[in-house]
Amino acid sequence: MSGGSNFKTKLVLFAKFLYDRYPGLIKNLGLLDLVRLPLYKNFYLNQIEKKMQQFQSGAIAVEFEVTNNCNADCVMCPNSLMKRPIGRMDMDLFRRIVDEFAAENLPLIKFVFAGIGEPTLDPSLAEKIKCLKQKIPHVPVQITTNASLLNETRARELIEAGLDQMIISFNGITQESYEAVMGNLKYEKSLQNVLTFLSLRKNNKPSVTVSCVRLDANAADFSGIEEFWNSKGAKFDSVKTPVPFNRGGDQMQNRYSSKWALPKPTSPSHMLPCRMMGENLLIHPDGAVALCFADYEEKHVMGQLGKDSIKDIIKTKQNWFERHKKGDFSHTPLCNNCTFMREQSVAWWKDSYF
Ligand SMILES: C[S@@+](CC[C@H](N)C(=O)[O-])C[C@H]1O[C@@H](n2cnc3c(N)ncnc32)[C@H](O)[C@@H]1O
Ligand code: SF4
Repeated sequence: MSGGSNFKTKLVLFAKFLYDRYPGLIKNLGLLDLVRLPLYKNFYLNQIEKKMQQFQSGAIAVEFEVTNNCNADCVMCPNSLMKRPIGRMDMDLFRRIVDEFAAENLPLIKFVFAGIGEPTLDPSLAEKIKCLKQKIPHVPVQITTNASLLNETRARELIEAGLDQMIISFNGITQESYEAVMGNLKYEKSLQNVLTFLSLRKNNKPSVTVSCVRLDANAADFSGIEEFWNSKGAKFDSVKTPVPFNRGGDQMQNRYSSKWALPKPTSPSHMLPCRMMGENLLIHPDGAVALCFADYEEKHVMGQLGKDSIKDIIKTKQNWFERHKKGDFSHTPLCNNCTFMREQSVAWWKDSYF
């Protein structure tokens, strides 16, 4: 390793140590607001403008919520509070949507199976992945899963269907913290499933990222996540530890606490256009396209696939996005109250948020 990259690695490790040791530091010092310094802000707005042009040409991530049902009850997730009826996307509607995407030939970033539900509860998940890989093979397919149902048979099915990327939500490395966060799930079973899945991969495909949301209930785990998985012989492609966001409201406020949670925006100067709105198209089980993942009750539906055209829906989303660009967040209390908006301050530098 060269002297330069050695120094960079040490710097990153030191920053990570500070972040784990002093969770409120970034928040309290207002470091996320650095992007609002006039000199830097101009620079940053250019970056946003470049990304927005990509969205306008159709460079978006398409997310299928194949079901809004879930077998877990994670403390930071509003799934169990959701009033929207439980549904599952039928194969026929899925095929029609995929055919329309294939015909549009947009420069899509990826297809994601997630939403606010557990995608492996859909028995036709592998068939849906296979359909995407047959009809639009160049676009990567990802699933985000709690892995609790990923037994050997299901794991083989998903791998053979051609899945490219998997995010495994494993929100605690001890039985105590895991079960405190991921209500209803059993630590040992999920752990075994993850290890089995990793052992079945061929040539490291699909790539696997393990995700652990930063909450007080699992705060002691962060400094040891990599060591824990190494001790199990588990080889991941990456580990992420996202901060919790409030999905535009405070429904889950009494269910969890987190030193890392960002404050709500207090004025438009705390708000930049929401990347989620531009980059992600979230399709609910009946084809409805919600505003974003914060809109799990479908307060702002952009259109319904199967009835409305993809082009029209994308246009509606872009109109909403234009308002954000002008600093107008008044159209929905979801945007006004969303802590994810604050996290967006840094999100614009990444290639893709998803
Ligand atoms: C809503 S889940 C849906 C997919 C699947 N059921 C799962 O848990 O992986 C998608 C991702 O969001 C994360 N998540 C849930 N609630 C969150 C919150 N309030 N803040 C940040 N991430 C959250 C989950 O841990 C998971 O990684
Ligand atoms: S497993 Fe996923 S969808 Fe289910 S409660 Fe947890 S975060 Fe929400």
